[in-house]
Amino acid sequence: MTDPKALSRERFAEHANEYVRSAVHAGGADLEKLVELARAEPQWVALDVATGGGHTAIAVAPLVAGMVALDFTPEMLDAARGLSEERAVAGIEFVLGDAEALPFEDGSFDLVTCRLAAHHFPNVQRFVDEVARVLKPGGRFVLQDQCVPGNTVSATFVNLFDRLRDPSHNRALSSAAWTEVIRRAGLTPGEVALFDKRMALDEWARMQSCTPETVTHLRELLADASEGALEWMAPEGEGASQSFLIRHCVMAADKQ
Ligand SMILES: C[S@@+](CC[C@H](N)C(=O)[O-])C[C@H]1O[C@@H](n2cnc3c(N)ncnc32)[C@H](O)[C@@H]1O
Repeated sequence: MTDPKALSRERFAEHANEYVRSAVHAGGADLEKLVELARAEPQWVALDVATGGGHTAIAVAPLVAGMVALDFTPEMLDAARGLSEERAVAGIEFVLGDAEALPFEDGSFDLVTCRLAAHHFPNVQRFVDEVARVLKPGGRFVLQDQCVPGNTVSATFVNLFDRLRDPSHNRALSSAAWTEVIRRAGLTPGEVALFDKRMALDEWARMQSCTPETVTHLRELLADASEGALEWMAPEGEGASQSFLIRHCVMAADKQ
């Protein structure tokens, strides 16, 4: 069986520059909300897990005293470093490492962020347990990720649709499931905000170099979606103008 982490690393290495330039990743209301919920203080040390093209780390870095950006794909770290230089945001330390085994001592950070990445992690409980471990008492975790409906059948459809486009998509969770994971890690869940992003199916598939056959398969799947999945994804248009909603949650949690 393919190692899911090796597959994820391989795919992100191949598409690193697209993630730096992608409008969905570059910003938006969800990133603004993440920054708002972080309530960063100037003396804080922050960690951005699975930093990708570095958009979240670059948004948070000017607000804190120290910023560490971690990713397990060296090519993504190079791309993020390049973007931080282009934006003249200095002082970010780039670290190669795994979200599920953070290479930091207990109680190292005041703030941990993670945006648009956790659906790739094979074990999200291990990831949030690690976040809780590296946070200082009083520290804050702000998570942003794609989310799925609470209904298991519709959630499974949405995850399968995503995985067909990107085999390194492991599993997005509902906001209720995330709250449970956060609680089990010993953190106290706080504010939750939900966002919709309408994606053109063709552009979304192109970002992962899907073949024309896969795009056809995605269209067929969407046409056969159950009522619950259709309500969640709200597809519009046909052919090249077809689009659908990707839903995201932004959640804050505190370490007591
Ligand atoms: C879509 S990008 C992240 C986007 C970025 N956080 C932002 O705000 O634009 C997803 C990133 O997750 C990283 N990733 C996936 N699994 C990981 C893991 N287990 N540990 C660390 N990084 C991981 C990938 O290498 C990739 O760079």
